[in-house]
Amino acid sequence: MSELKSLVEEARQAFAQAATPVELEDAKAVFVGKSGRITALMKGLAGLSVDEKKAQGAAINEVKREVEALLQAARQALADAALAKQLAAEALDVTLPGRQRSSGGLHPVSLTLERIEGIFGSMGFEVADGPEIETDWFNFTALNTPEDHPARSMHDTFYVEGGQASAPNLLRTHTSPMQIRHAVQHVKRHRAALDAGEGMPEIRVIAPGRTYRVDSDATHSPMFHQCEGLWIGENVSFKDLKYVFTAFCKTFFEDDELVLRFRPSFFPFTEPSAEIDIQFSSGPLAGRWLEVAGSGQVHPNVVRNMGLDPERFIGFAFGMGPDRLTMLRYDIGDLRLFFDGDLRFLRQFA
Ligand code: DAH
Repeated sequence: MSELKSLVEEARQAFAQAATPVELEDAKAVFVGKSGRITALMKGLAGLSVDEKKAQGAAINEVKREVEALLQAARQALADAALAKQLAAEALDVTLPGRQRSSGGLHPVSLTLERIEGIFGSMGFEVADGPEIETDWFNFTALNTPEDHPARSMHDTFYVEGGQASAPNLLRTHTSPMQIRHAVQHVKRHRAALDAGEGMPEIRVIAPGRTYRVDSDATHSPMFHQCEGLWIGENVSFKDLKYVFTAFCKTFFEDDELVLRFRPSFFPFTEPSAEIDIQFSSGPLAGRWLEVAGSGQVHPNVVRNMGLDPERFIGFAFGMGPDRLTMLRYDIGDLRLFFDGDLRFLRQFA
């Protein structure tokens, strides 16, 4: 009888020590399995008298029930513990502050390009886009810069595969080829009206984009930006260029007192040509003359290459550097900051 008592106690301890369901089932086998101790006790009843069998059998059955109840409780305890552990591991603390998603911002040069497009757009200029890999014709020849012309050496050109051996394709050294590309399209669209002796809507366009030259220092990058401007009509003059560009600079730099200076210069595709300098009325750069663009009256040869009669059509062009405009607007000393991708710098404009 006392073995029966201690058996329940032993089972309780064995079940309590089982740390996993597998261990628990192993422990169970020791007591109630086919070759377990309770089964062995049952078998031992065989040699007893009928009365003893009755009494002993009832006692063993009672122990068996207790052990099975203990087993059931132990199984439940393990299952509860496993669930509690899983819940703890997957706990979601809804009172924690959310993780913030940082918002991006436009690159300072992109901001400048948007401003340029906005300001010229308000003055009736379209925005045109064109290829960065150019032919020799559009980049040089059509712009009145024939082969062997000394002006070609003003540009340190990246040549690429393709094109003719004598005139390989290249990365455009300026946005000026867009003058020709855009004008040719415009003229094509209005060819019938022109041939019929009717007029043509004026060409009024800017063409911003990437340009390339073999050059690299604090104020030059092999890839940089330019924005071309072109206004061609039957009655467009230098005073229009002056008016438009002055209005642009005053708006862009938010300086109504800003002054412009047109300094005589040379470009193959304009005659006369001028470099445009500005002077701020206030701020750290006030009082200094700062070059911001090249410009001029479009050369008759270029007008011809646009498919127009230079006796009838006249206009002006300009080309400016959005990188430089950005440096002036924010007083930034090193152009390379724009292209290093340093977020500490870029975040200041977001
Ligand atoms: N393409 C010239 C350059 O890269 C800039 C320029 C000068 C553009 C005069 C023009 C212009 O349209 O009229 O240096």
